[in-house]
Amino acid sequence: MGEYIKVTGVDDIPIGGIKAFELKHHRFVICHNDDGFFALADECTHDNAPISTGRLDDNIIVCPRHGAKFDIRTGEVKAPPAIVPLDTYQLKIENNDIYVFID
Ligand code: FES
Repeated sequence: MGEYIKVTGVDDIPIGGIKAFELKHHRFVICHNDDGFFALADECTHDNAPISTGRLDDNIIVCPRHGAKFDIRTGEVKAPPAIVPLDTYQLKIENNDIYVFID
């Protein structure tokens, strides 16, 4: 049974920012853009690179190793060489704090 866990404050990740976290054996990244905050697995599905060291371009995060692109809202692959989507995490904001749902 999962639960929402407080991860960080909204002020800790500016728009355009990417930040990596590890909680309860989950490594994930929170991205912030004009559409809000999004949490994804911090491991590229192509060859396990930490996606948190990539760059954010609007709604797309680009893997630093071979350039696969993923939609941060859905995890969907937008460019190869990855073919498997990134896992996404549910996220909510309360009192300026970011909570992520961890199983
Ligand atoms: S490890 Fe991410 S594209 Fe290859």
